[in-house]
Amino acid sequence: MGIVKRIGTPLSPSATRVMLLGCGELGKEVIIALQRLGCEVIGVDRYADAPGMQVAHRSHVVTMTDGAALRAVIEKEKPQLVVPEIEAIATAMLVEIEQEGLAEVIPTARAAQLTMNREGIRRLAAEELGLATSPYKFADTLAELQAAIDDGIGFPCIVKPVMSSSGKGQSLLKTQADVQKAWGYAQAGGRVGAGRVIVEGFIDFDYEITQLTVRALGASGAVETFFCDPIGHVQVNGDYVESWQPMAMTPAALQKSRDIARAVTGNLGGRGIFGVELFIKGDLVWFSEVSPRPHDTGLVTLATQRLSEFELHARAILGLPVDTSLRRPGASAVIYGGMEEKGIAFEGVADAMQVPESDLRLFGKPESFKKRRMGVAVANADTTDEARQRAKLAASRVKPVKA
Ligand SMILES: Nc1ncnc2c1ncn2[C@@H]1O[C@H](COP(=O)(O)OP(=O)(O)OP(=O)(O)O)[C@@H](O)[C@H]1O
Ligand SMILES: [Mg+2]
Repeated sequence: MGIVKRIGTPLSPSATRVMLLGCGELGKEVIIALQRLGCEVIGVDRYADAPGMQVAHRSHVVTMTDGAALRAVIEKEKPQLVVPEIEAIATAMLVEIEQEGLAEVIPTARAAQLTMNREGIRRLAAEELGLATSPYKFADTLAELQAAIDDGIGFPCIVKPVMSSSGKGQSLLKTQADVQKAWGYAQAGGRVGAGRVIVEGFIDFDYEITQLTVRALGASGAVETFFCDPIGHVQVNGDYVESWQPMAMTPAALQKSRDIARAVTGNLGGRGIFGVELFIKGDLVWFSEVSPRPHDTGLVTLATQRLSEFELHARAILGLPVDTSLRRPGASAVIYGGMEEKGIAFEGVADAMQVPESDLRLFGKPESFKKRRMGVAVANADTTDEARQRAKLAASRVKPVKA
């Protein structure tokens, strides 16, 4: 499978067809970017009326962890590009699809497979690439977890299911009294139910960043690596609540971050954007994890960059040139649903937009949960500190209500 050499007309035999596997808020923005470039876009997710489905040419509700179902929808739609937007996908089937040449998987099927499981990406980064990471061990039972902590990981430490995202099933353990509860929580919170956990030594970092990294065709015609300005962010219980760009860093820490990002994305290969998560303390940098797709903290780029991370992804996967330049400092702040309810409404939108240099995205999710991300406020300012104040103020003015 080569790159797309030309772009056809949607809904005609010449169409450049792209299938998004996952139609959340990040997928929705990628779809909009692809639509603007004249692609035909097919959205797939596990529930109807997902945000991205609302802007795709057509969509399918599919259990994407079911390999046969995934293959069936790809055979039916025959997209040139298959673009995973989430981790919970039957990635072994993506490997087969790529090998058989049915479609090109973005960035590669191997990248999707390695990153859906913390064990795959952690062993690659630490054991094959020799990158600095937190100390870690894997455990399949409570006894193994206890042994891992006793034999070197110690306290404080963090326990995470190997198959989970957005902080699900994750706990910070401070003392022996926390071990059993953390094990139980991880068993309940994994994507595939009970199973293996990773236990990581706690890194006492000064701050953490997302280094957005784009692998795209350069002027030379070969794939080159491009870096966005670093994004700072705040996580609460493993879920991002606020991000800003650029994050001020020492030149040494920035250089180290980019060396790590280049190494890990270069190994995963393919074309597209990656969110490389890094912990920083002074000039020390630890690799945490990587998304081979747009990153939630990168929603800020809707306001800050000439091309958002979604537009960069669309361009990179189509084999088009990218420009990662920052336009103006900015920040993002998450808007949560705050209630368990279907078909909610939002009040205060006009008040929110009274905040200088602000903008909103309301994702259109059919159902709200207390901690479900339903929208985001972004804002620009001369400094990221001021932009953070503006984004948080705008987000706080949006009030989800029962319809
Ligand atoms: N070893 C560690 N030491 C210190 N803090 C950590 C460690 N591991 C995770 N964290 C904190 O928890 C957050 C979430 O961890 P991680 O990214 O591994 O989980 P996740 O479920 O994949 O989250 P997401 O899907 O939102 O990226 C990190 O961004 C960081 O703030
Ligand atoms: Mg993370």
